[in-house]
This record gives sequence, structure tokens and C-alpha cells, in this order.
Amino acid sequence: MPAIDFHRTLPGYAPTPLRDLPSLAAELGVGRVLVKEEASRLGLPSFKVLGASYAVARALADRFGAAALTLDAVRDAVRGHAVRLYAATDGNHGRAVAHVAALVGAAATVYLPPGVTEDARSAITAEGARTVEVDGDYDAAVARAAADAAGDPTAVLVQDTSWAGYTEVPQWIVDGYATLCQETDDQVAALGLGAPDLVVVPVGVGSLAQAVASHYRGADHGGPALLAVESDRAAALVASLRAGERVSVPVGETIMTGLACGTVSALAWPVLRDGLGGAVTVSDDQVAAAVEDLARLGVDSGPCGAAPSPRPASCWGRRGGGAPSVCGPTPWCCCCRPRAGRPTPCPRTGSEPGPPSRTVPARSFRARLAAHLSARPSARPAARRPRAGPAAAALPRLRCAARAG
Ligand SMILES: Cc1ncc(COP(=O)(O)O)c(C=O)c1O
Repeated sequence: MPAIDFHRTLPGYAPTPLRDLPSLAAELGVGRVLVKEEASRLGLPSFKVLGASYAVARALADRFGAAALTLDAVRDAVRGHAVRLYAATDGNHGRAVAHVAALVGAAATVYLPPGVTEDARSAITAEGARTVEVDGDYDAAVARAAADAAGDPTAVLVQDTSWAGYTEVPQWIVDGYATLCQETDDQVAALGLGAPDLVVVPVGVGSLAQAVASHYRGADHGGPALLAVESDRAAALVASLRAGERVSVPVGETIMTGLACGTVSALAWPVLRDGLGGAVTVSDDQVAAAVEDLARLGVDSGPCGAAPSPRPASCWGRRGGGAPSVCGPTPWCCCCRPRAGRPTPCPRTGSEPGPPSRTVPARSFRARLAAHLSARPSARPAARRPRAGPAAAALPRLRCAARAG
């Protein structure tokens, strides 16, 4: 059963808007910029509740034998049983777990690393959850939540990252995020558009990106280029892509608290390694400006959601000059049908991007994008066409870059 069928049983379920930003598209020289705005999702300010609700429902339905995968059936099955949900969070996931616990009649304990704002903590306790402050980073909070859950027979650990031996719930969380992709497909189709050319997604542990990559790589969506964006203070995915294996990085302070994760989810890693076109990092300064830019365009986004904004993205995309072939804002977004390339200065600086970027491989973003663009001009032919056209001509200048260090 697709997760969206379960989500439809939740009070207040409605697709979030897909915002069309024509002025931004014109400014960037692309055909269309669309933003999936997740500022209000089932009454919470993030997409995270899609994953938490679906995973909790699956786990509790299995444990207590719910008659169906609906909120009412899960709540009925839980009634009379002691259940405590455990989760570590940098904000949104913990609030989502706390919210879902209240919906299904369970208790919740949420572990917080330092850096989580007082507002985020209060929002979690307002849902009725206990909070535990952990002396350590996000990874330490995850370890503590897992350890405490292991000692509690009523526990269900609802973590949005995975590791060896803990994969079932995180996969359900990723499956829950698929609702966001499915809604977007419907909304893009309703606009009369084909599949997007580029999808940009923010990465913390990479579960959202895993859902997006699985969606676009798992069906005939025309194979859009997929680009991940991380905070430059927590660039675990970029480091892993460089190393060719999953590695952890120390995490610095960042306003992108939801992206402040030092280790990519074990389940996400192979999907991202094989499915992404590339990964880039953005700085707090870039993201702060992007939040303001998006607000001016009427898009309500926090720093995590603004991370893949075209302001930073246009800079990495145009290193070396030339036309932006791809770019777009977030929570995650797509640009459709890049228009003919034309030299465009960076909208922010009016010039070349600032600090030097090191060209970084994901799996040859440039090659993938070249293949993608040459394979889908206005009407896609049965066979791949040779690289041609103005957008493809801009490709040699396209870089997948990450700030060094
Ligand atoms: C608003 C927002 N965007 C993106 C992310 C990143 O998601 P993931 O950790 O699955 O990569 C988070 C994580 O907390 C978030 O809160």
C-alpha cells in the first residue's frame, strides 16, 4: 500500500503546494522553477511527519496486529498497550515523532543534541513528549536514543537514519517521504509539464534524498538530474563521495540545524552514491540570504529548506561563467526545460562565484546531465540523441563543486 493512502487517513491531510516562481525562472534563464513548499504539513512545519507517521503506523500495526493501515485501526490496536516512541532529533523529526505519538496514543522521549533551539524544544514538549538533552552531537543523540530504547520493552525506536542492524523503521520513514514525490508528480502533471530536468534536495542524513532518488530512479520519470545540497559545516555526503565510501565528519555550528548530521544513513548511502548527479555545500551566509530571497518571492522556508536555493546553486552551477543549466530552490524543487543558454551573471554577486570551489565528483554529474539533456529535448526520442543544443553546449562549464574543507 503506498504511503499516501495511509497519509490520507490522517486528520488534515492535504497535498502541500507546488509553487511556480516565474520571475526566478526568468532571472535564472531556465524554463520553470517549482518549489514544493513544506512549511505546513499536517499541521507541522516540515515534511518529516510524512516519514514519522508512516513508520510508526507500520511498526505498531505489525506489533499489535492492526486490522488495516489507517490511523483509526492503528490507534485501536495500540489501545490498552504501553508504547513509548524514542527518537533523536535536531528539531523537526523529533517534533514529528512526538506529534504522531499523541495521535496514536503512545508516549514519546526525544533526545536533543546541543544547538537545538529553545523554540524547537518547546514545540516537542508541547506535543506531550519528554525531552532529554544529550552532551554530544547529533550522532551521539542517536546513539543514546538507541541505547535507551534497547532497555525498554515498550520502546519503538523511530530514527530517521539507519545503520547495520537497524534498517526497517528508517526504510519505512523513507517510504513515507514518497508521498511528497507522488504529490509533486500529480502537481507537475496538472501544470501540463513533463518530468523535471533537475531536482535539488537538502541533505542531513540523506533519508529525504534517498526517497527522492528512489522515486526518480525507480520509475519512468525521464531521469532528472538529482543534486544534493549540504551545509558546509556538516558535509558528510560530499566527504563520502570523495572517499568512495561512507565516512563521518565532525559537525560545526550551523543555522541549518536539520542538516547538522555527521553521518549519512547506511540505507541512503548506496542509493545516493549511485543515483545522484552530484552534491554541493552551501554556507550559512548563503542560506541566510536565500531565506530572505525566498520570502520576498512569497515562499516560507527556514534555512534547511532554503539550502538548495538557486542563489547558492547558481554560483556553483556557473563556476567558470556561462549559462546556468540547472538550479532551483527548495524544500526541494525542479527546473523544467532549461532555455537556450546565455551568459548570466550570478544574481547575487553579479559576477563569478566567490570562494574557490574544488571540483568534486559525485558520479560524474556533468556526464549524467549531458546524457540527460541530450536524451530529452522537447519531445524525447526513443533513442538517445547526440549531445546538441544550447543547453548542452553549456555543459562543459557546468561543475559539481563543493567548498573545500
Ligand atoms: C527542513 C528539513 N529539510 C531537510 C532535512 C534533511 O533531511 P534528511 O536528514 O533526511 O537528509 C531536514 C532534516 O531534519 C529538515 O528538517
